Amino acid sequence: MSMPTPRPPHGTAPSATTGTTPGAVAGGGNRSAGPRADGTPADGLPFPPGFVWGAATSAYQIEGAAKEDGRGESIWDTFSHTPGRTRNGDTGDVAADHYHRYAEDLDLMRDLGLHSYRFSISWPRVQADGTGAPNQRGLDFYRRLVDGLRERGIAPMATLYHWDLPQALQDGGGWESRDVAQRFADYAEIVFRALGDRVPVWLTVNEPKTVVQNGYLEGHHAPGRQDPDAAYLVAHHLHLAHGLAVAAHRATGTGRIGPALNLHPCYPADDSPEAARAARLYDGYENRLYLDPILTGRYPQDVLDDLGPGSRLARGIRDGDLATISAPVDLLAVQYYTPYYVTADGTTTPRWPTSQAPWQQIYPDGMYDILTRVSRDYGPIPLTVTENGLPSPDTLGADGTVDDTGRITFLRDHLAAVHRAVAAGVPLESYHVWSLLDNFEWDAGYDERWGLVYVDYQTQRRVLKRSAHWYRQVIAANGI
Ligand code: FCB
Repeated sequence: MSMPTPRPPHGTAPSATTGTTPGAVAGGGNRSAGPRADGTPADGLPFPPGFVWGAATSAYQIEGAAKEDGRGESIWDTFSHTPGRTRNGDTGDVAADHYHRYAEDLDLMRDLGLHSYRFSISWPRVQADGTGAPNQRGLDFYRRLVDGLRERGIAPMATLYHWDLPQALQDGGGWESRDVAQRFADYAEIVFRALGDRVPVWLTVNEPKTVVQNGYLEGHHAPGRQDPDAAYLVAHHLHLAHGLAVAAHRATGTGRIGPALNLHPCYPADDSPEAARAARLYDGYENRLYLDPILTGRYPQDVLDDLGPGSRLARGIRDGDLATISAPVDLLAVQYYTPYYVTADGTTTPRWPTSQAPWQQIYPDGMYDILTRVSRDYGPIPLTVTENGLPSPDTLGADGTVDDTGRITFLRDHLAAVHRAVAAGVPLESYHVWSLLDNFEWDAGYDERWGLVYVDYQTQRRVLKRSAHWYRQVIAANGI
């Protein structure tokens, strides 16, 4: 088995490139100051009428209220409370206190003019142990949130699983256990019955690859394992969970449903045939292992061959699984952060300056490449970008402002790439910034601030960063 070295996302391994001021690259400068006075886009890049502008968050990263209203423990409670697992020992116990401040946050979203808000539902709030009767108080929170969005004219987009597996299910084997996929479908069905009439877009599993790589290969995300053979079986069970949830949705829900995949363009680092071959296999592990089963009903043969016939993945695939996994979806959610440059020996080498996150090279053209590639290779499926953004060490100035110019440059450059992809015919319907609010960035804790909105964690005060004001103008002008 010659697996490529997995990426080091979410704040672990330092990259060979030194970090720069975010945004000081890739066509940077401060070109875009928002729309002109007449409301037309400053850079002359209008988006199609009806294009949907949004922002994203996830439950464990913002909600806090870890022990309230019957919420059970998740693997992220366990992981973050284990000494040494997160930076500064940070946990999501309080986070941005969104559970209590959601009404204020809804008003912020309205003030920004968001059309769509992507959030996730915490499984252990709905089923404390991951099975059995639903916890009504947990469901009620999401009902209030969804109704509050709709009252403000913002479309809810709900992710069912953003990594907070109930700890009780982990104790029974977690995603290594095939049974958890069925438990997930049962949970999904509860949520569809409670909210299905008022949520137009559902996303199943957020970034299965990150669970596989960070949770089971590198071990710097919950549940903190380093077991390659288990990792790819986990991939299969996450796919199965996705497929079973799609089936439950068809039986109970309204609205549309699809997967949320983080995709990475994988380029050969040089012109050699060896690098080209290595980049192709790397792409198998980074992209096709997730796209192919869901969208074509097959695992990529090069990855299966590389893992070998005795792998737990190969042995874990049962008759009918791929039909379940590839049940038609209504849309594909793409999350783009960084490209990879793959060398002949199958490792990666950085090419561009990074953001504050050492794993993130800033390369806006990668957005264009991944969107056009997905459209080309997987057919005319509607796409949405559900995450894109960068962290920066933002501070609240004495004048009460947060000057995150680098984020504006980053977003502007990536939106220009999105614009080119749309102009090239990619059926992209919406774009969501990661993130609405500063939040708990997993093992990087609160050091990395990814929000459009600054959160003062001492007081929980929210302050719109300069990028939030800019984004409001982009939305108003429907373009950059
Ligand atoms: C994505 C995650 C999201 C956040 C961003 C920075 O991989 O889905 O929760 O951590 O990265």
